[in-house]
Amino acid sequence: MFQRLDDLIKFMIDRSTIEKIIDAAEIVEVIQEFVTLRKRGVNYMGLCPFHNEKTPSFSVSASKGIYKCFGCGKGGNVVNFIMEHERLSYPEALKLLAKKYNIEVVEKELTAEEIQKQNERESLLIVSSFAQKHFTGTLFNNMEGIAVGLSYFKERGYRQEIIKKFQLGYCLDQKDEFTKEALKSGYKLDYLVKTGLTIQRENYHFDRFSGRVIFPIHSLSGQVIGFGGRTLKSDPKTGKYVNSPESDIYHKSKVLYGIYFAKKKIVAEDKCFLVEGYTDVLSLFQSGFENIVSSSGTALTPEQIRLIKRFTNNVTIVFDGDEAGIKASLRGIDLILEEGLNVKIVVLPSGEDPDSYSKKLSSSGLKQFFSDNEQDFIRFKTRLLISSTKDDPVQRANLIRDVVKSIAVIPESITRSVYTKECSNLLLVEEQVLYSEINKIRRKKAEQNYRKLKYYEEQNLQKIPGKQTPLVTESTEFQEREIIRLLLNYGNLEFRSPNAKKDKEETIVSVAEFIVNEIINDELELDSPVYRQIFEEIQQQTDSNNHLDERYFINHPDESIRTLSADLLSLSYDLSKIWKKHESYVESEDMKLKEIIPETLIAFKNKKIMLAIRETQDLLRSAQEKKNQDEIEILQEKFIILNRLKKKLAKDLGDRIILQ
Ligand code: CTP
Ligand code: MN
Repeated sequence: MFQRLDDLIKFMIDRSTIEKIIDAAEIVEVIQEFVTLRKRGVNYMGLCPFHNEKTPSFSVSASKGIYKCFGCGKGGNVVNFIMEHERLSYPEALKLLAKKYNIEVVEKELTAEEIQKQNERESLLIVSSFAQKHFTGTLFNNMEGIAVGLSYFKERGYRQEIIKKFQLGYCLDQKDEFTKEALKSGYKLDYLVKTGLTIQRENYHFDRFSGRVIFPIHSLSGQVIGFGGRTLKSDPKTGKYVNSPESDIYHKSKVLYGIYFAKKKIVAEDKCFLVEGYTDVLSLFQSGFENIVSSSGTALTPEQIRLIKRFTNNVTIVFDGDEAGIKASLRGIDLILEEGLNVKIVVLPSGEDPDSYSKKLSSSGLKQFFSDNEQDFIRFKTRLLISSTKDDPVQRANLIRDVVKSIAVIPESITRSVYTKECSNLLLVEEQVLYSEINKIRRKKAEQNYRKLKYYEEQNLQKIPGKQTPLVTESTEFQEREIIRLLLNYGNLEFRSPNAKKDKEETIVSVAEFIVNEIINDELELDSPVYRQIFEEIQQQTDSNNHLDERYFINHPDESIRTLSADLLSLSYDLSKIWKKHESYVESEDMKLKEIIPETLIAFKNKKIMLAIRETQDLLRSAQEKKNQDEIEILQEKFIILNRLKKKLAKDLGDRIILQ
């Protein structure tokens, strides 16, 4: 990666600056701006920002300076993360990090020529940043800007600090003042058109936002990627609001207005408020609700929901007090439920929107109103629909179906059953009836998902050469390796058998003694010659002097045993993936031995039985072909005993993971 891009970078950012940036950028700190991370052992875990998931498989190692997602496989260092996440080029990502850590980037001044040479996305970002500065400059420094734009914002009640923070602006009410200025400063018309700032006609061009106040739209990392512009004319020829068109840097469906300013507070409060538009975000932010975002006039998309989900599971949607509008949004809210978020609703008094209402109440009054009026979404939806169906049976049936749909998408079964109970009361329908409807929907959905997953897996397997499906392997080698690894690493530690009966005196044995006894008593053997030899020698050592000498194995006369034991003794937490269930494994495997050792032994036995069952089945089949009745009976007997053993083990295993 470094080599490949070297040529591109060296005339832009010099090597020592790059190193300085990489050294300074603390990976956990950087990633934490985008993903909520929780400490797990020596690593940090969170929900992967690169694919949709419900349980965290995204891991960050502070000491190694890397991240890795065990779900989708994405991984790399801090610069890779920024590149991938913010869809930036390598130099862009470096510059972003440099800015964060106040590192001066030694860079040649860019000429118009060089701007051309840069890749397009970077150019679009640069143009957007220029435009934002130009519009903000106009708002504060230009006569018309002050008289028209700034005074409009002030009239709306926005304080200077909010106007500055959100980098609001004004575009002069002329045909192409901005475009001319941009061209004069060396920006290419091509990029002005691609960002939508300039509209190109056959033989002339003009400013998209002329005569409008400007709301810049920021990416998660604070870069300006698009704009909204509100006209100040009472009778506009075009719409009240005009937005940037889709471009390489602006995807309406993936952006939430305000997310950059809100994300810290969303995490701190573990909650996100969702409103309709720019003005609502600004007004509520100013009233002290900083954990606030808007989907800017459109229905919420799954991508936007996932964006919120990176920071919190709790969303409160603020609705104007207009029933038609609320009903129109109900469908979209099911999408939010489906992502496993908890949705609450606040409905403002009729005729108010967040913007207007935040002006009527003080900050604390507003807070009070929100906490008094916040209600759970499904309850809210049910009540709302009941009130509008009256006694019409057809409408009632539709309503029930509708509510059931909302409940069915909730991933948590406990939450579902709480709602089912409640809605059964509200709707006067038996709980069982609701359940069976819900299950029908869920089954259908599960089938669809399964088909999707299968398809996805097949596609993925084809993409990764040499990658194996996690099929059941044909030997106990994996379990044997684990057994030997545990013996070599922890053989001399004290071990209290978890099966020791309370009334008996507890016998404290060593880990080695315990494992050896368990295997000998069940008359089991290790199959792999190397592991079996190590096992037998350990058995001799512990029998004769109650002590396991791992140095003996590291210096073993047999070369393969030497390497293997060195390997196993240095294997620290790379295996943690396998032991995912033991979340603090990484920190202290030895504290978990009480669980790990019995599980490993059970897994070993289980595997042995499985293999024996398979073998018996094969023998049985050929005995049946040969019609050898005696042998068939013996084998059937064996088959039954093995299955009984398997059941017993499964019980011992409980909900534990069986290692294949
Ligand atoms: N909005 C939009 N496009 C429109 C109308 C509204 O994107 N054509 C969004 C804007 O983000 C706006 C929000 O919806 O902030 C609220 O709409 P509205 O109240 O009509 O906008 P205001 O600017 O508040 O206008 P008014 O002063 O008339 O309330
Ligand atoms: Mn309004």
